Amino acid sequence: MKGIIVPTGREVLLKNDDFIVSKTDTKGRIVYVNREFMRISGFSESELLDRQHNIIRHPGMPRGIFKLLWDFIAAGNECFAYVKNLCKNGDHYWVLAHVTPDFNKQGEIIGFFSVRRKPNQHAVDYFSQLYEKLIKAEQEAGTRRALAASSALIDQAVEEQGFENYQSFILSR
Ligand SMILES: Cc1cc2nc3c(=O)[nH]c(=O)nc-3n(C[C@H](O)[C@H](O)[C@H](O)COP(=O)(O)O)c2cc1C
Repeated sequence: MKGIIVPTGREVLLKNDDFIVSKTDTKGRIVYVNREFMRISGFSESELLDRQHNIIRHPGMPRGIFKLLWDFIAAGNECFAYVKNLCKNGDHYWVLAHVTPDFNKQGEIIGFFSVRRKPNQHAVDYFSQLYEKLIKAEQEAGTRRALAASSALIDQAVEEQGFENYQSFILSR
């Protein structure tokens, strides 16, 4: 299914009380989605379960943002991120995602949760522009240097805005 969805450029706006939830195993394979996830993405439960979470990845999302996300959560930390996601019909929706590890009693990571809500428009405007720059830098740098190029730009954006780290930068929006 991945790869054949053509983005329409049409945005679906979330309502203030829409909360989109999913849970994955340690490898990012979807093991749970709530009804809002299915309603907004247009995918059924059987199309989502056991699939990699990149099934809803929008081509306008930079690789560098997902690297940051995975670095945080794999180290046992929570992560906030603005994400543009693809619907089954090619439309897209922006979310502010809060992704957290799920631990067992031994303190080992057994999976991850993501709870997403409607972002404010000011943040969407800012991150759309930033992500366009990151995608461009990744493309120009070529596959092997793409992550280094976009990581440098992310660090630069955080610093320019006067924040100490990426998470405080995200939460300030
Ligand atoms: C709990 C959890 C939720 C995720 N949610 C999304 C999501 O909503 N959209 C998305 O594109 N990637 C999401 N990801 C990240 C994907 O696993 C993947 O890293 C990303 O789509 C980039 O895919 P790619 O590296 O195959 O290009 C999530 C990962 C986890 C662990």
